[in-house]
Amino acid sequence: MKKNVRKAIIAGNWKMNKTRPEAKALLDELKPLVADVKGVEIVACVPFTNLETALAAAEGTNIKIGAENCHFEKSGAFTGEISADMLAEMGVEYVVLGHSERRQYFNETDETVNKRTKAALAAGLKPIVCVGELLWERECNITEEVIARQIKLDFFAISKEDVKKCVIAYEPVWAIGTGKTATADQAEEVCAFIRAQLAKLYDNDTAESITIQYGGSMNAKNAEDLVSKTNVDGGLIGGASLKAPDFTTIIKAAENG
Ligand code: PGA
Repeated sequence: MKKNVRKAIIAGNWKMNKTRPEAKALLDELKPLVADVKGVEIVACVPFTNLETALAAAEGTNIKIGAENCHFEKSGAFTGEISADMLAEMGVEYVVLGHSERRQYFNETDETVNKRTKAALAAGLKPIVCVGELLWERECNITEEVIARQIKLDFFAISKEDVKKCVIAYEPVWAIGTGKTATADQAEEVCAFIRAQLAKLYDNDTAESITIQYGGSMNAKNAEDLVSKTNVDGGLIGGASLKAPDFTTIIKAAENG
């Protein structure tokens, strides 16, 4: 991490977990554990049904609340969808976009990720845009091609001012929920590559200022090693964010890193 240059962010991605009482209980457990944390932005990205509960539970604390997706249109006949404006009006600050599970199970493409990112930015949300290669792609030695393409398409026609409001999460798909973490060196290699791509598309100062997280089986044990890397500015954490003590250990690793 380079905390003097860019913000360290540890974000939990709760996925499809927790009822409202469970969400409140988890945040109530987390609050005192992280109350004195400085220099790390703490975010909990929760299911839509938990947003109001989570916002109330986090009020007046150092925990920010995010959603896990949003639609790209402002409003209209899109049954079952939630717009960026709806989230912003509630006081939601962050939104995860282009998560590999959305790409894999819900047919999201780089084109729709790009549209969602633009919609989120227009609503004043901070997008956490996820990119990452499949195991097959890594084995075929095309990780950099895949990542370069995703960065180019997901941020197509997004201005320099706007891209600075985004967070990028590098999540190798083979590491998500599998217990297989990328090594710290593998994470650093791709996060540095992403930064180099941003420098090409924008400029060096812009690239240096953007928070790039690692995600994929990041946990209380491996977090310290991962965030010790220059280009790993935090994490997007699934499973381990559902346990307050583990999530706290990861946050403290980033605080001390
Ligand atoms: P995981 O999920 O930490 O459970 O692997 C990470 C993510 O999908 O964001």
